[in-house]
Amino acid sequence: MRWFSWTGTGLFHYWARAVLLSIPLVAAGCSGAGRDSSIQAPEPLLVEVGAELFVTHCASCHGVDARGDGPAASALRIPPADLTRIAARSDGVFPESSTARLIDGRFDLPAHGSREMPIWGTRLANQIPGLAMGDEVARGQIASLVEYLKSQQVE
Ligand code: HEC
Repeated sequence: MRWFSWTGTGLFHYWARAVLLSIPLVAAGCSGAGRDSSIQAPEPLLVEVGAELFVTHCASCHGVDARGDGPAASALRIPPADLTRIAARSDGVFPESSTARLIDGRFDLPAHGSREMPIWGTRLANQIPGLAMGDEVARGQIASLVEYLKSQQVE
């Protein structure tokens, strides 16, 4: 049974967890395409997963409360955005698909100069080296981050 304890603790466990976690997220990411975000309430499972991802990847710049005051913020040329006011800046409607595109970063060129935000689409996809589904995992994780941000909007 030695192999069994190895699979329970090592890299395999990490991969398996990442892959299993991503399956409902990929499904949610697909079904979420094009829906009207002003009507749909945030999906609790995605919010929970997104909150964990936010602390891991985003809080250093945007702050744990997403208001743009993370410990790394002062070192940046462009201040990180207050992510609790995305809807407020967009006439009260949370712009789900453009926020996902912005976080992903692989599709849009910055309006001017270089982007301070990491290209999360590439970073998240590269978390699982050698697995062709890295891109699916990235999309699922971005969908859950968007759902989390949607749940954090203030007036
Ligand atoms: C290295 C610092 C840094 C990290 C880490 C970071 N961001 Fe950002 N983010 C920024 C900066 C700076 C901006 C302002 C626009 C720009 O220059 O790219 C920004 C802008 C944004 C915006 C646009 C908000 C708007 O309304 O214009 C979103 C959404 C966003 N970040 C989400 C995230 C998410 C989600 C994560 C984690 C996966 C993350 N950011 C991690 C620095 C960061």
